[in-house]
Amino acid sequence: MITVIGSMNMDLVTITNREPALGETVLGENFLTVPGGKGANQAVAAAKLGAPVKMIGCVGDDLFGEQYINHLKGHQINIEHIRSLKNEKTGIASITVWNNDNKIIVVPGANKRITPEMVESHREEILKSSWLLLQFEIPLESVERALEIAAEGHVNVIVNPAPYHDIPENWIDKITYITPNEAEANKLFSAFTNKEALLSKLVITKGKDGAEYFDQGERVSIPALKVDAIDTTGAGDTFIGALAVALSEGLPLKESCQFAVKAAGLSVTKLGAQAGMPSRSDLNK
Ligand code: RIB
Ligand code: NA
Repeated sequence: MITVIGSMNMDLVTITNREPALGETVLGENFLTVPGGKGANQAVAAAKLGAPVKMIGCVGDDLFGEQYINHLKGHQINIEHIRSLKNEKTGIASITVWNNDNKIIVVPGANKRITPEMVESHREEILKSSWLLLQFEIPLESVERALEIAAEGHVNVIVNPAPYHDIPENWIDKITYITPNEAEANKLFSAFTNKEALLSKLVITKGKDGAEYFDQGERVSIPALKVDAIDTTGAGDTFIGALAVALSEGLPLKESCQFAVKAAGLSVTKLGAQAGMPSRSDLNK
C-alpha cells in the first residue's frame, strides 16, 4: 500500500496569453475547476498506474470537499481516513497558466488542520504502508510526526519539500528519497551542513531536462520525454507518484526514475494537474 498524508486542493485555473501588471485587468482565455493539491496529485498519479493507494488528509464540509472525496473514490483510492471538517473550507489553489508555465497561490484551509495528533491516530495505517509520501502543504510538525512513525516501522518515505521549507538535518536518516525541483534542491543544498548525506537522498526533478540523482556522488541524468507541454502543473507530483509505484514494485532507482520521467512527461500534455496523468497502458504505448 502506498500511503499519502497530504493536501487536497481544488485548483481554480485561469489560462491567459498575458499576465496582468498590478492594478491592470486583462481578458483571459479559459477557466477550469479541477482537483489538485500536491498530496492528492501524488495519490492519483500512483492510483492511475494501478497501485493500491490510501489518502490521509482533511477537506472542508463544503462542495469542493464532497467533490474531492468522490473524485478520489472514482480512482479506487482508499478514502476511509479523509476527514471532512465542520466549518472549514477545502483547500484551493489559484493558478494562472501562461507561456506553458504557471504561478500558484495556495490557500490551505482544511489542509492546515492536519495535526500531529491526527497523524498519530493513523499510526497503524502508516506502519502497514510500503511507501509513505509527504509534502509541505500540511503543517511541518505533522510531516515530522509521520516521519517518526514511519522510521519506527522501517517504512520507506519520499519527502517532497514543496512549497519550499528547509528540512531539519536530523530528518535525513528517516527519509528514503527527497524529491525537490531544481530551485528547491539549490536551497536545500545551501542550507544543509551534511551535504553528502543530503546528496545521497536527492532525486531532483528538472522539467524538460528530466530528472537526476547521485550515485555515490556521481550525477546520474535521466532524460525527459520529448512532448509539447500544455500545462506543467502537477508534473513533479506525477513523477513522485510514479516513482513510488515503480519502487514499490521493486524496480531499481534508475529504472524507477525512467518510469517516473515518462509518466511526468505525458502528464503535461493535458490541462490540469491530474488530467494528463497516464494509466499503465498509456505508459506502455
Ligand atoms: O504541484 C501542483 C499543485 O500545487 C497544484 O495542484 C496546486 O493545488 C498546488 O498545490
Ligand atoms: Na497536466
